[in-house]
Amino acid sequence: MTAKLIKGKEIAAEIRAEIKQQADVLKSEKSITPGLVTILVGENPASQSYVRAKQKTAHELGFHSIQENQPADTTEPDLLKLVEKYNIDPAIHGILVQLPLPKHINETKILYAIDPDKDVDGFHPVNVGRMVIGAPAYLPCTPYGIQQMLIRSGVQTEGAEVVIVGRSNIVGKPIANILLQKAAGANATVTVCHTRTKNMADHTRRADILIVAAGIPKAVTADMVKPGAVVVDVGVNEVGRTAEGKRILVGDVDFEPVSQIASAITPVPGGVGPMTITMLMLNTLQAAQRSAS
Ligand code: GUN
Repeated sequence: MTAKLIKGKEIAAEIRAEIKQQADVLKSEKSITPGLVTILVGENPASQSYVRAKQKTAHELGFHSIQENQPADTTEPDLLKLVEKYNIDPAIHGILVQLPLPKHINETKILYAIDPDKDVDGFHPVNVGRMVIGAPAYLPCTPYGIQQMLIRSGVQTEGAEVVIVGRSNIVGKPIANILLQKAAGANATVTVCHTRTKNMADHTRRADILIVAAGIPKAVTADMVKPGAVVVDVGVNEVGRTAEGKRILVGDVDFEPVSQIASAITPVPGGVGPMTITMLMLNTLQAAQRSAS
């Protein structure tokens, strides 16, 4: 079997067209332009590249977007002041503080300082709590994007055995909660594997839908996958540079052999990645829409 490619890039483009249309309506009917601020502290090259991509997409959608680049030695009180400035700025509907932050800054403290109504990353405990109980919430962008990708590719989650590899707060835990909900596009039976899981392959081989967010290249090999499974690879691992200095990225799944067994698989790049940024824009649009009512 050769797996169908789930092209996140194309699905993301489709969603972005919908966002653009709704943003135009919001502008013409309510004179509101969705506003997003991205805050970057320090010079981590991967973070710089993610933030650039977020800003570029915001511009393309006609959003009001601000980029705050702060030096690596920014103090925690100064960063808290910056967050507060945008908490009370009516032109800003979404605030994103790019992680990781430098070690001298308490990440939790900063994330808790963001107004939950502007927390378009969905990392504030108020939004995490709402997500877990199935109340309206900003969902974290990568898991939200994975769910949308499954829905829009016609993958049935209802009653499916979903196995997740990785228990991070950004991907593993939230996607488990999202797919567990009693709701359309969810209703799955969910297992979460992690570094202390015994006999990992016994779990992964049961999966109808296998979601891998381990942060390790080739963490999932072909012998760990059930024939016909849908495989979602969330990994972004830099394994080198091209002669031009561009980053060479691979996922967490041993792509070639696994794609001979799976029924569908997301590529890296061009799979989950473009969905993440798109869902950030969708959350920002929704924050702007809510500000109107
Ligand atoms: N760093 C890696 N992923 C993310 C994300 O989704 N949001 C933020 N703010 N930082 C990140």
